[in-house]
Amino acid sequence: MNDILAATGNAHKVLEMSAILAPAGIRLLRPQDVGGIPEVIEDGASFRENAVKKACEIAAATGRRVVADDSGLEVAALGGEPGVLSARYAGAGGNDGRNVRKLLDRLAGVADRRARFVCVIAVADPTGLVGTAEGEVRGQIIAAPRGDGGFGYDPVFVPAGHEQTFAELPAALKNGMSHRGNALAAALAQGLFVAG
Ligand code: IMP
Repeated sequence: MNDILAATGNAHKVLEMSAILAPAGIRLLRPQDVGGIPEVIEDGASFRENAVKKACEIAAATGRRVVADDSGLEVAALGGEPGVLSARYAGAGGNDGRNVRKLLDRLAGVADRRARFVCVIAVADPTGLVGTAEGEVRGQIIAAPRGDGGFGYDPVFVPAGHEQTFAELPAALKNGMSHRGNALAAALAQGLFVAG
């Protein structure tokens, strides 16, 4: 197995990334498996900036190869909100439930429900950035949450061509079409996980 450290404390992201990368012979180490992970301030203006920052700072601090995921939801009628602020949309101390509530409040009475999830994957080693890859999935925001699976905005996101939300679809189906699945597939195709 080819080991790489995941630069995220989000257990849902680690689960999804592990499931997507395992068939390629890649095993993810979690921050708690390694220790000594510095806190990275996500102050970038784009998903790419934040992903690169997380991967490079943690690779330099730990001396390991690192994969970072920066991702979020962009809603057309809200000019791309919540975007890079997806995790903190309802403010500091917010959580997935409050973020979803704020999103639905903002979209009350809005007919255009188009949205997309975006994910940028960055791979770095202690000498610097190896590369980045991006993925997206398009869909619609529904009026009220449905389903218990996934995380974040999954209960209100229905991917194009489907009836169920990401929180209702089986995890393997989500991973096969998601922004994260698409970004990791592109990263694999670019050879970003080939140990240098
Ligand atoms: P990050 O840790 O700054 O990348 O924040 C990502 C945030 O975007 C999460 O906290 C979720 O709110 C949202 N997000 C990213 N990917 C997903 C997903 O697959 N499903 C639902 N929400 C997601």
